[in-house]
Amino acid sequence: MEIAPNQTLLQLLREELGLTGTKCGCEIGECGACTVLLNGHAVNSCLILAPQIDGQEVMTIEGLSDGDRLTPLQESFLDHDAVHCGFCTPGMLMSAKDLLDHSENPSEEDIRRAISGNLCRCTGYQQIVDAIGDVKQ
Ligand code: FES
Ligand code: FES
Repeated sequence: MEIAPNQTLLQLLREELGLTGTKCGCEIGECGACTVLLNGHAVNSCLILAPQIDGQEVMTIEGLSDGDRLTPLQESFLDHDAVHCGFCTPGMLMSAKDLLDHSENPSEEDIRRAISGNLCRCTGYQQIVDAIGDVKQ
């Protein structure tokens, strides 16, 4: 696939590959709506140029569930009413996955730090923090 040198990873995912689960908010690294995992770590895909990811592993929200089967993390978001409009949710989930993949028993402070780059205009954050802290693996 040919990509323009100035195309961002976010544009590549949404516009070329049709993976619209990753949301486009600010495009300047402020909102976290575009968060994906790059080699297992949460990054803002709007700040990464597509050519930079050649040969690297990218995981988007589409890769989180197993078909129709939600992960315990996603189930916990539903159980805690942590999804309202849903715009922030894919990015929140990817930041949370990064945290839970690298920390066995994160504190509330760890959780809040992990999602500090993800803005939510609806929930007030507490349900999201509770959902991440209460994931049943
Ligand atoms: S769209 Fe990337 S941080 Fe807002
Ligand atoms: S649920 Fe609406 S922005 Fe977070």
